[in-house]
Amino acid sequence: MSLDDHAPLRGPTGRLTRARAILRDAERVLVLTGAGISAESGVPTFREAMHGYWRQFRPEDLATPEAFARNPIQVWAWYDSRRAQLRECGPNRAHDALARWILGAPDSRRLYTQNVDGLHHRALTDAHGSGTPPPEALPRELHGDIFVIRCSVCSWSERNDAPVDAASIETLPRCPQCGALARPAVIWFGEALDGELLQQAMADADRATVCLSVGTSALVHPAASLPRIVLASGGELIEVNPEPTPLSADASVRISGSAGSVLPELLD
Ligand code: OAD
Repeated sequence: MSLDDHAPLRGPTGRLTRARAILRDAERVLVLTGAGISAESGVPTFREAMHGYWRQFRPEDLATPEAFARNPIQVWAWYDSRRAQLRECGPNRAHDALARWILGAPDSRRLYTQNVDGLHHRALTDAHGSGTPPPEALPRELHGDIFVIRCSVCSWSERNDAPVDAASIETLPRCPQCGALARPAVIWFGEALDGELLQQAMADADRATVCLSVGTSALVHPAASLPRIVLASGGELIEVNPEPTPLSADASVRISGSAGSVLPELLD
């Protein structure tokens, strides 16, 4: 039975109760998050009407290898401003609740994110306290990490969260090995995801009995295919998003609310 937005949210027959029961009984859960989970941290999403990046800018100018080859100064200026904005942001209640929940059973709960903001990592480290969190609990970042830079030609990369001076081509970061321009280690339009990571994601989706999709418009593939793989292999879908998505009709439970208000109640 599917519970959509018309069913009550709370109470014995409510959507939260049903979603909690599905998660409690699930053998393996794949969580897929998108920009919406970071919205309450102050990070803009991509496609929302008011502040979405792709409502103000053309991705072809800022997020393709061709744009970088044509105008690396413009691309770096945009990424530097996003990095500066992210330094001011921290994980919110949704990241925190998810991190605690994953740490509760890291072998059977896998987190894949399309976000490059590193906020899941930070929430996990905070939730774990001292020491290093178990590797199984780490978020798998399908689209990379905005605070890693890599060579645009060879395989060099490093973690780097320093401001980038995008005033001229001379001040842009360069690869210490081959001297080519360095770029943000994120996936741009027209680029393939890391092959090994994608294989792992598809295998995890195939094995998962439940997918929890949070804050994604579910429009960008292959990430958006993961919930479909879970469904195709007989699993169930829970969706948390204030707006409907192409996945909504197939959700066992759809919760139309903000991640920061829903996830603590759903997962804690
Ligand atoms: P989008 O901007 O496409 O979608 C954000 C989703 O979050 C929308 O469905 C919103 O309704 C929802 N949302 C907004 N506020 C929310 C909140 N407080 N709680 C829960 N949900 C909320 O972002 P993504 O789906 O992440 O790719 O976009 C996928 C990819 O497209 C991104 O990773 C990026 C972009 O181009 C790359 O940069 C490669």
